[in-house]
Amino acid sequence: MDIEDCRQEGLAFAEHWRFICSYDVGIGLNGFTKWCQQQGQPDKAKLIFIDTSHEYEHTKQEIAAWVPHLNERGILLFHDTNMGKGKFARMDGSISTGWDNQRGVIRAIEEYLGRQYDENSFFTDIAKDFLVIHYPHCNGLTVLKRLS
Ligand SMILES: C[S@@+](CC[C@H](N)C(=O)[O-])C[C@H]1O[C@@H](n2cnc3c(N)ncnc32)[C@H](O)[C@@H]1O
Repeated sequence: MDIEDCRQEGLAFAEHWRFICSYDVGIGLNGFTKWCQQQGQPDKAKLIFIDTSHEYEHTKQEIAAWVPHLNERGILLFHDTNMGKGKFARMDGSISTGWDNQRGVIRAIEEYLGRQYDENSFFTDIAKDFLVIHYPHCNGLTVLKRLS
């Protein structure tokens, strides 16, 4: 799902993908369940990957809109949970420049889980019925796995 129509010809495994051109919060709050039914798909997802605006307010809205669509063992995956102050490191030691999102994504996760994290470190946690695993490199990847 993307607000831009970013479908591409010739993508690998294209037959397994369905693209929705939409504002993600809107369809999360209203429409996703019906869309799943129309597609003959389960209406609770095994995995939801969020990699959009990287902004705090929007990420909070995404969490509120999409957590209800996770199945009982589902995984919520967030990219860009460690954007630093506009510079980020990869595991091979290289460094690149990005932008400073004011900890937008990780702050929204912290608020949702009622925790505070050091996103520059690897960490694990159990909070609010989720196993939390964080990888700090490449702008940060945070995994929330629902514990049934
Ligand atoms: C960093 S890119 C990631 C794209 C994709 N995950 C990838 O790896 O190719 C962020 C994408 O989020 C989209 N985006 C931003 N805000 C959005 C929103 N509210 N709803 C849906 N898509 C959004 C942008 O159009 C952009 O294509």
